[in-house]
Amino acid sequence: MRKTINLPHTELIPDLLAILPDWYRGQADARELPWRSAPTPYHTWLSEIMLQQTRASAVIPYYERFLSALPDIEALAACDDDRLMKLWQGLGYYSRARNLKKAAIVICQEYGGKLPQDFTALLKLPGIGRYTASAIGSIVFGQPCPAVDGNVLRVLSRVLASTADIAAPATKKAMEDTLAPHYPSGSTAGELNQAFMDLGATICLPHGMPHCACCPLARICLAHAEGLELELPQKSSARQRRQEKHTILLLRQGDTIALHQRPAKGLLAGLWEFPNLPGKLRKDEVIRWLAEHDLEAEKLQILPPAKHTFSHIEWQLSGWLVEVAPATGLTVRDNNLPFVWANSQEIAEHYSLPSAFQYYFPFS
Ligand code: ADE
Repeated sequence: MRKTINLPHTELIPDLLAILPDWYRGQADARELPWRSAPTPYHTWLSEIMLQQTRASAVIPYYERFLSALPDIEALAACDDDRLMKLWQGLGYYSRARNLKKAAIVICQEYGGKLPQDFTALLKLPGIGRYTASAIGSIVFGQPCPAVDGNVLRVLSRVLASTADIAAPATKKAMEDTLAPHYPSGSTAGELNQAFMDLGATICLPHGMPHCACCPLARICLAHAEGLELELPQKSSARQRRQEKHTILLLRQGDTIALHQRPAKGLLAGLWEFPNLPGKLRKDEVIRWLAEHDLEAEKLQILPPAKHTFSHIEWQLSGWLVEVAPATGLTVRDNNLPFVWANSQEIAEHYSLPSAFQYYFPFS
């Protein structure tokens, strides 16, 4: 059974929830974000999905490009997968895009192309969890739903001087249950949730000293009163990422380079990559691999190492640029081969190359 957490000083909640929407309205110009200027159900849904795991400043150009290409839910439902991946390229967590399209299809088939308002119906859509359903429910439909994410956990832990471990699901549930009975309806609900997001992003920061001097909650915040800003929230250490080494091979023939499509399932499913091998390969090992694939290197040059971090894995990348002799091995332009050859313009326009491989592109 999950243990129940009792939060301290919950008598501060009504004050906290009264202060934040006023502060949000007062500083409305400070964070002008495109999804806030014309919030429709589709715009808010799309922005909330993009904002899962990604900073607002990084999302803006993707959001604008995505909406120009796919202006409504019908267009999203009908979008070809390669085009979808290209629109998402670089944003990471690609299952978000695949789930968006799956949900768009359900919305068109079951809800006449309109995002459902019902919280439980929203939760059933692919890619929508409690946080996103609450954000959409409050911002678009004015529902009294607290959207509890890391920002809310941090702000509440500090204001209430709670030492509960914010990595524990029970703490999240306790915070949601504590906030819910006090939540307003109507436009204030969305303003309140977005105030938490803005406060967490700009003032009540997760790393280093928060900017308490300009915090609207400083006068009621117990962590501030007791000098506990840097000790709260408490968070049990995140699990270690699995470390993997990979050697990237930039096989170049003329102005083209070999690309390989990743398997349809698993990490970065269906996206494109440069051929790569497990481990950190020395020059002689690369030469041996090339020979085994009927390839001959005219030039072999080491490339700088790179590191790429996923939520659960860290890739330590090394790389070799290989000038391949013409008309050998994989130099045949044949789509039945596991490789295609493309120049940098074709790659930029047509192939979704995840950020993990962008360190080695454009190749030199
Ligand atoms: N992070 C998640 N949702 C957000 C929103 N609506 N505005 C700014 N940052 C966010």
